[in-house]
Amino acid sequence: MMEPGNVQRSTPNVQRSNAEGASSLDVGRWTLDVERSSERAAIFIRDVSLTFPGKRLGDEIAVLDHVSARVAKGEFVCLVGPSGCGKSTLLNIVGGFLTASSGEVLVEGQPVHGPDPRRIFVFQENGVFPWLNVRDNVGFGLRGKSKEEREKTIAHYIAMVGLTGFEDAYPRELSGGMRQRVEIARALAANPDIIYMDEPFGALDFITRLKMRADLVRIWQAEKKTILFVTHDIEEAVQLADRVLIMSKRPATIQQVVEIDLARPRDLDSPRYLEKRDEIFRIMGMSLRVGETLSV
Ligand SMILES: Nc1ncnc2c1ncn2[C@@H]1O[C@H](COP(=O)(O)OP(=O)(O)O)[C@@H](O)[C@H]1O
Ligand SMILES: [Mg+2]
Repeated sequence: MMEPGNVQRSTPNVQRSNAEGASSLDVGRWTLDVERSSERAAIFIRDVSLTFPGKRLGDEIAVLDHVSARVAKGEFVCLVGPSGCGKSTLLNIVGGFLTASSGEVLVEGQPVHGPDPRRIFVFQENGVFPWLNVRDNVGFGLRGKSKEEREKTIAHYIAMVGLTGFEDAYPRELSGGMRQRVEIARALAANPDIIYMDEPFGALDFITRLKMRADLVRIWQAEKKTILFVTHDIEEAVQLADRVLIMSKRPATIQQVVEIDLARPRDLDSPRYLEKRDEIFRIMGMSLRVGETLSV
C-alpha cells in the first residue's frame, strides 16, 4: 500500500490549493489545460463547502471542505470517493437541489440558484414513471414539440439505447437494465446540455453494468454532452471518464485528479488501463489484494 506521503508528493498543487482555500483554482494540470482551452467551462465549482446541521442543536456535520473543480464542455468526468464522503451532496449542489454553505457553482458561466431543465439528473433507480409505457416515458419532457417531431425524437432515442420494439412495454415488464435505458433515453430526448448521473448503474448486475457503460460511452460520443458522473466504483470511473476527480473522506475535498488518456473503446486488460485503475486504488488508500484490510 502506498504511504499517504506519496499522494501528497504527487499532488502538490491540490494540497496547496486546499490548504489555502480561498480563490486558488489550481487543482492540478488538468485545470490548467481547461483554462487554456478557448471554451468556457461547462461546470465551475469554486471553493464549495457544506455543513449539515446535526441532530442536536450545535452539532454539525462538515461534508464538503473547500471543493474546487472544473468540467469542460463535452467532457466526461467521474467523481469517485468513499461511501458517505459527499459525492451526492456535491452533485446536488451543482444541480441546484442543495445550496452550499459557502463558495459557488457556475454552470455555463451562470451561478446556480436552483434546478434547470437544460440539465438532467439520472439516478440509480425508480427514475421512470411506472404508469407510463416506454414511449411516453421517453417523450415525457417533449410536450412543447409538434406530434411529428416528438415521435421522431422518441424513436431516435429509443433506438439509441437499444429498446426498439419495447415502445408499448411498461416499466414493470422490463429488467432493471432496460429501465435504466429508458431513463437514459428520456434524459437524452430532453436535449440537455449537461447530464448529472448519480451511481446510475449501481443496482444492476455485473454484466449489465458493463454493457450499460459501453453504451453510455457510445451515446456520449455521438451526442457530445457534458457528463458529470458519480460513482464509488473505481473500475467504472476508469472505463468511462476523461478525468477522474478523487474525493477524500469526509469532510471531502478533491484529493487528486487523474486523467484517463486511454483511447475508446477501452481495453480492460491492457497494462495502461490496469495502471490507471491501480493508481486510483492507491490514491484512495485501498489494497489490491482481496482479504486485506481497507483503510477507507
Ligand atoms: N440532508 C442531510 N442532513 C444531514 N446529513 C446529511 C444529509 N444528506 C447527507 N448527509 C450526510 O452527508 C454525508 C455525505 O452524504 P452523501 O453525499 O450522500 O455521500 P456519498 O454520495 O458520497 O455516499 C453522509 O455522512 C450523510 O450521512
Ligand atoms: Mg451518493
